[in-house]
Amino acid sequence: MELFVSLPFHGFVVTTAVLLLCFVPINVSAVASRRPPQLQLSQKLRFDQNGEFKILQVADMHFADGKTTPCLDVLPSQVHGCSDLNTSSFIQRMIQAEKPNLIVFTGDNIFGFDAKDSTKSLNAAFAPAIAAKIPWAAVLGNHDQEGTLSREGVMKHIVGLKHTVSQFNPSEAHIIDGFGNYNVEVGGAEVSGLANKSVLNIYFLDSGDYSTVPDIPGYGWIKPSQQFWFQSTSAKLQRAHMRPPMAQKSSAPGLVYFHIPLPEFASFDSSNYTGVRQEGISSASINSGFFTTMVEAGDVKAVFTGHDHLNDFCGQLTGIQLCYAGGFGYHAYGKAGWSRRARVVVASLEKTVKGDWGAVKSIKTWKRLDDRYLTAVDGQVLWSKNSADEVDR
Ligand SMILES: *[C@@H]1O[C@H](CO)[C@@H](O)[C@H](O)[C@H]1NC(C)=O
Ligand SMILES: *[C@@H]1O[C@H](CO)[C@@H](O)[C@H](O)[C@H]1NC(C)=O
Ligand SMILES: *[C@@H]1O[C@H](CO)[C@@H](O)[C@H](O)[C@H]1NC(C)=O
Repeated sequence: MELFVSLPFHGFVVTTAVLLLCFVPINVSAVASRRPPQLQLSQKLRFDQNGEFKILQVADMHFADGKTTPCLDVLPSQVHGCSDLNTSSFIQRMIQAEKPNLIVFTGDNIFGFDAKDSTKSLNAAFAPAIAAKIPWAAVLGNHDQEGTLSREGVMKHIVGLKHTVSQFNPSEAHIIDGFGNYNVEVGGAEVSGLANKSVLNIYFLDSGDYSTVPDIPGYGWIKPSQQFWFQSTSAKLQRAHMRPPMAQKSSAPGLVYFHIPLPEFASFDSSNYTGVRQEGISSASINSGFFTTMVEAGDVKAVFTGHDHLNDFCGQLTGIQLCYAGGFGYHAYGKAGWSRRARVVVASLEKTVKGDWGAVKSIKTWKRLDDRYLTAVDGQVLWSKNSADEVDR
């Protein structure tokens, strides 16, 4: 219901954003003419020689001061000797077990209130990814700015760290809300015809912290300026994908990562999600229309958030999978006896008739629990090329 109510409003705000941007002196043609004719991948991420690209999602680390920070909601027998270092060790074990091509930290990376020095906490929180030299991306949650750095300050610090593909904000968007809205392109396998094309697009957005509108209580939301940027970026990537050389018939699949779940995450019950829902959906109290924007764009196959540590399900609505990762960090609230967990997503390429790697064929996911065996649970196919062709849009 909310989805339809938001439509006229959303149409209005996007139109406003278009008008606003028209008056901003963006020299699009000058930027475009400096670009080589072939798509230049903005980052050097690509599918490996096995035709796979694997993403590890780490949600809600709530990192504070390291060894002296206690664990929350663990069994009485687990309290002793438990700290932020257990969060770091879980990342290290996940890296060893899964060997991801990209690690995505979906916000509340640090728990600002309890961090003596936000810079140090950020450095320590991301240290396992940096030490493993694995490309990583981060977005902000609602707790990252509660320490000695503002949201702007936190994102500025993140983009200066090693091996990150995070960006402060898109250079082409002169007006945009939030900090840490950006996208990364994942190129096809190296020795294939799609080596220089982005065959998987990943979008990162800042879902804000708290509402600053007095009449609207609660959490923040993805604003019209951000949706406008997403919309134009998605359209641009889809055009590039379907244009020569190696023109493709359909757009490359898109994945979207941010912190606060959308109101549409409440559309499911246990009959139509995989995983668990053990607490309410803490989205903003209003619907800003981003779900509609994504359905309209057409390339997004799955959305991944954190924020509600006790929810770890995926459910499909109107062709888009809405997924939680489940709480990861030990200084984050959780449920004693219910393991901390992480979500893994792997995209796989199809073989072309010539026998080399082609476009993305399927996207699968599972979670791993921080127990002795890193037990994998809830494996499922999020999207596959054939079934997607049947989806009536
Ligand atoms: C935390 O890490 C310590 C040291 O490795 C370990 O002994 C303890 O079992 C861990 N606690 C939890 C809850 O995993
Ligand atoms: C991709 O770009 C590189 C560098 O410009 C070039 O050497 C290579 O031939 C291109 N590959 C394809 C399949 O277009
Ligand atoms: C999930 O199933 C319930 C009925 O059990 C239904 O009301 C709801 O609309 C379904 N949601 C979706 C997204 O299919």
